[in-house]
Amino acid sequence: MSTAATTTTEQFEKVPTLIFPTATTAAAALAREVADLITARQAAGQTTVLGLATGSTPVPFYRELIRLHQQEGLSFANVITFNLDEYHGLGRDHRESYFRFMREQLFDHVDLRPENIHLPDGTVPLDKVFAHCQDYEAAIDAAGGIDLQILGIGRTGHIGFNEPGSTRDSRTRLIALDRITRQDAAADFLGEGNVPRFAITMGVGTILRARKVALMAWGENKAEIVREAVEGAETEAVSASFLQSHPDARFLVDAPASKALTRVKLPWLVSHVDWDETGTRRAVTWLALRHHKPVLKLLDEEYNENGMAELLTRHGRAYDLNIQIFNRLQHTISGWPGGKPGADDRTRPERAEPHPKRSLILAPEPQDDVLSMGATLQRLVEHGHNVHVAYMTSGDLRVGDAEASKFAKVLLETSEQFTPAGLGGQQGDWTHQVAYARDILAQLEAKGPFGDPGDALRRLKGLIRRGEARDALQALGLPPEHAQFLDLPFYAKGRYRQFRLEEADVTALRTVLETEKPHQIFITGHLADPNSVQGVAWRAFTTAWDQCGTAAWKDNCRIWLHRGHQKELEPHEIDMAVPISPDQLAQKLAAIQKFQSHTNPDQLTGDRNRQSAHTYDALGLAEYEAIEAFERWK
Ligand code: GLP
Repeated sequence: MSTAATTTTEQFEKVPTLIFPTATTAAAALAREVADLITARQAAGQTTVLGLATGSTPVPFYRELIRLHQQEGLSFANVITFNLDEYHGLGRDHRESYFRFMREQLFDHVDLRPENIHLPDGTVPLDKVFAHCQDYEAAIDAAGGIDLQILGIGRTGHIGFNEPGSTRDSRTRLIALDRITRQDAAADFLGEGNVPRFAITMGVGTILRARKVALMAWGENKAEIVREAVEGAETEAVSASFLQSHPDARFLVDAPASKALTRVKLPWLVSHVDWDETGTRRAVTWLALRHHKPVLKLLDEEYNENGMAELLTRHGRAYDLNIQIFNRLQHTISGWPGGKPGADDRTRPERAEPHPKRSLILAPEPQDDVLSMGATLQRLVEHGHNVHVAYMTSGDLRVGDAEASKFAKVLLETSEQFTPAGLGGQQGDWTHQVAYARDILAQLEAKGPFGDPGDALRRLKGLIRRGEARDALQALGLPPEHAQFLDLPFYAKGRYRQFRLEEADVTALRTVLETEKPHQIFITGHLADPNSVQGVAWRAFTTAWDQCGTAAWKDNCRIWLHRGHQKELEPHEIDMAVPISPDQLAQKLAAIQKFQSHTNPDQLTGDRNRQSAHTYDALGLAEYEAIEAFERWK
């Protein structure tokens, strides 16, 4: 470890790690540094050699570079670039090739000279790959080596495509992609089966030779792997961990991606802590789970041994602190997510009045609602609240071609039954429908598995998902007319990793808010990668919320956050825990199953909700079958 952290707070961090409030601020700081480097070298008559990365992570960084070029005259005329990697088997024009990605995200918008741009060539035949990789290394050397290497990090801890097992001194080479990596790329390629199996990537050794390295990571899905890379041992299992021994490497992360770092997660171990309510709850629940004990059984010495003596002194004894936290946790449990009318609500998560409430569920994609809060939704309906679900996007990008093809074929066959010669023997003019179905089939044929779906195809897939969303709501007892489909333009016009929020998105949401004037809103995306559908949708919501200004209904509105697909809230984050009975869980899973076009089998087990119930049980609270958890947005 050559660049060890200097403060005790960062004592567990083996590579300098900068935590920014948002990805935008982090990306802007890095872009500014790059601009300064380019300008300084330009003034000295030198070139700057940048190592570039793909993926959604660097997108805000590239957008800022483009802005600096367009608005502040930053020139890339003396910049030479080398990209980390490219999928093997994809031509440069393939919609998912990294070459095309780089053109769309950066190259086409700045004054880089085409001859200064380098990416591995994905079309090199296998028997020539080795020589091609050697040439790539030689070209980097000939350019004088990389001044600054930009990196993202994959969920397996890879940098470039250096999957687990890549050695510290590996060089540019062909590599087989990990299962998790291919799953993560499945959405881009419209199905895991379409994701290439191999890629050409710079090696770990190639990356470590860059004079400076900056690795960016956003969103809570990266939190655990960031911790492993920053605090864990240097290991081939996590190729990003090798940056620990680089003399000038650093990580730039947003707040959600920093969540697992010791200084954020267990701050009392490394520094003085202002013990606020959430921090105290975090410490106590952590201690209980660590000692496999219910909260009420924690002892003074257990607090002392774990760096929490100061906390104890504030509360006198473990006994008092335990009871306080136990009660707090106890009060998060409520089977009345819309409030219990007529009840004393001083310690309940939701207000008793008004009843019924206008409950607005904002789902970034259809299924976000059912997955995270299907049972809660069902409760709200059962308790007579006015539930309104607004689906922010159609989710069509997740619907496979086979679904669209099935629909078009059924339509064709149906039309045959209604012609005079058909089985039904009924007359009818199906000319338009037949032409439509044939057109869809022709489009599918023409684009093949990788082509960009045209508007008509996307619309059809969106309709398929709408149907599933309505069926799922019905399965939870909500009549489908309570659903609204916003089809926000950022998604309808966009693609994965390249979404751009527009004013029209915000306006559409503002209209929903102003029309509904909800008493409670349920939404997700606050900790998501800001470029993901959920991340962009969250920004659309918060911007719309701000634009509603000081409207009176806002004072009377509570916002409940849930965790979307990936994870569950940790016990100290939960402000409302809605218990689920075995029957309700079965009903929820039946609703999830309505999303036939893309449901992942892991989502049909109910394990995530069972896990939350286990955690509550382990903390010494009641033992439920399952729990759906929410945090209140303050
Ligand atoms: C791919 C790329 C990496 C990138 C990673 C994470 O594996 N080869 O360079 O860091 O994806 O992608 P994202 O930034 O979209 O999370």
